[in-house]
Amino acid sequence: MKSKSSEESTDGRVPSGSRPFAFDLGVGAELLKRFDSHVLRRLSALQGQFIDQQAYARLLPSDPLIYEVYEMRRPEVAGELLHGITIIHPGRVGNEFFMTKGHYHAVRETAEIYYCLHGRGLLLMETEEGDWVAEEFSPGRVVYAAPCWAHRSINTGTDDLVVFFAYPGHAGHDYATIEQRGFRKAVIQHDGRVELEDNPRWSATVAR
Ligand SMILES: [Fe+2]
Repeated sequence: MKSKSSEESTDGRVPSGSRPFAFDLGVGAELLKRFDSHVLRRLSALQGQFIDQQAYARLLPSDPLIYEVYEMRRPEVAGELLHGITIIHPGRVGNEFFMTKGHYHAVRETAEIYYCLHGRGLLLMETEEGDWVAEEFSPGRVVYAAPCWAHRSINTGTDDLVVFFAYPGHAGHDYATIEQRGFRKAVIQHDGRVELEDNPRWSATVAR
């Protein structure tokens, strides 16, 4: 599509370099090539987060790949939208499903939106005041993580869980609060069913 070039600007300022663009959102290697940042998170990155620490210790020597994040590099400023795709691989540590580290945004008053492309799972969310919600991921489903809600993606299926995400460029990440405190709820497999239970490793206070 044609658009007005930023070089036509007459205000004398250096063009920001932020230009419109578009791409098709579909699952496949071609899509992933579009993204210019690829982060791999292995089991060791989730130290202390899983309930069954003996199961964690048994898996640690092979340090399995838990999830991957493909992100489009954008300026990390208000007005931009950081976006990409997270792939959470299937598996469990003991009875607890593979999951992302989870985080609050450093700027708490920023939201994030997810669109599930493939697989089954949950977005587990909670606030510092004690509220919590788990919303289901299934293909075609949108989940909105409102401002001030920590969020963690969990693969409860037997195939990869693939989700598209977008959030404000200035949001930043606060991983430390979750690393120290955990989430109030854990998602486990019990008698072949997916269940949420109180997380015995959750801590009410954050060590400073
Ligand atoms: Fe986020």
